[in-house]
Parts: sequence; C-alpha cells; structure tokens
Amino acid sequence: MAEPLSNPPDRPLPDGIIPEEVVAHTEKRWIAIMSAILVVMMAVIVVTGVMGALHPPSNVEAIDPQTLHLKGEFVDSNLGAAVEPDGSVTVRLIAVQFDFVPHSVTVPADTSITFRITSADVIHGFLLPDTNVNTMIVPGFVAEVRTRFTRSDKYEMPCNEYCGLGHHAMVGLVNVVPKGRFPAQDLLERTSNE
Ligand code: CUA
Repeated sequence: MAEPLSNPPDRPLPDGIIPEEVVAHTEKRWIAIMSAILVVMMAVIVVTGVMGALHPPSNVEAIDPQTLHLKGEFVDSNLGAAVEPDGSVTVRLIAVQFDFVPHSVTVPADTSITFRITSADVIHGFLLPDTNVNTMIVPGFVAEVRTRFTRSDKYEMPCNEYCGLGHHAMVGLVNVVPKGRFPAQDLLERTSNE
C-alpha cells in the first residue's frame, strides 16, 4: 500500500463523507487564492495602463467633414507639422480613401507630439507601431493623440480600420529626426493658427 494521503479531502472516511469543517476550510483557502489572483490581474492592468500611458482615445471634438478644405484648422496650408510656442509639435492630418494628407511628416525625437487627425470620407484608423498611438478616425470628429518618439527612425502609419478596396495600401510615413535637426526653417516661421 502507498503512503497515507496527506490531503484531508482525499482521505476517505469510513463512510465516505468528508467532514464539513474540512470542506469549509478548503473552500476558504481557494477563495483566498482566487481573490489574490484577481487582485494581481487587476494590478497588472492598472500598472501597465499607467506606465504605458494607455488611454482610450476620447477626444470628442466635432468638425464638418465637407468644409475641411475651405476653412478652419484643416485647410491645406495648415496641414503637416507645426511648432507650438512651448516647443511641442502639432501634426495635422486628413485621412482620405486611401492615403493620409500629407502622406509623410517629419517630426523631432524627444519632443511632445500631438497628432490631430480627421477624416474627409469614411472611418479610418491611425496606428503608430511601437508607440501608444492607436485611434479611430471618424468623419465629423477630430481624433487627437499625443506621443513622444524616443529614437530617430522612419515609422509607418498604417490605416488599421477597413475603409474600402484600397485599405491595404493606405500607409503614411512619420520621419523622426534628431531634435537638433528640427525644425526646418519654413517650419520655424509657421505655427498653428486655430
Ligand atoms: Cu483608411 Cu483603411
């Protein structure tokens, strides 16, 4: 015969019934273990959310998609990167089937960058791989996301919301340059006018 079982519930009583206090004790222990797992999982969600600055894109700002090119902050001459008085950079883009206007933007590294994007036609998406940026671009609203690039590189910004037959080809480009090489002279003189 094998060694006697040490776990009380596995130790059959003469009549095959496990004592009530043993069951209660085992259940309480498992409730404590499950509660601890839940607390750890909630903590992981909160910590990664705070440390990674994750947040739902919740900028509710209405705009008329039919007059984007006529007036307001999304007229042609105001698109692209603009330096704000505090040194941060605002990038304004329009998403259309099937490209971003402008198609590529140059921004500095180690600088607070605000993307303000709206759509001229249907729902698009805006995703910057390796950053915290991922938002929908809904016609009629301005999507606003902030990020900071830590290294110079070329980032693709794919549309990640199915928007029609050319969706797969809708990829813009963010060119991140060292802070010292930005802005170009024409950008220095151009600040956003809202
Ligand atoms: Cu635009 Cu998919």
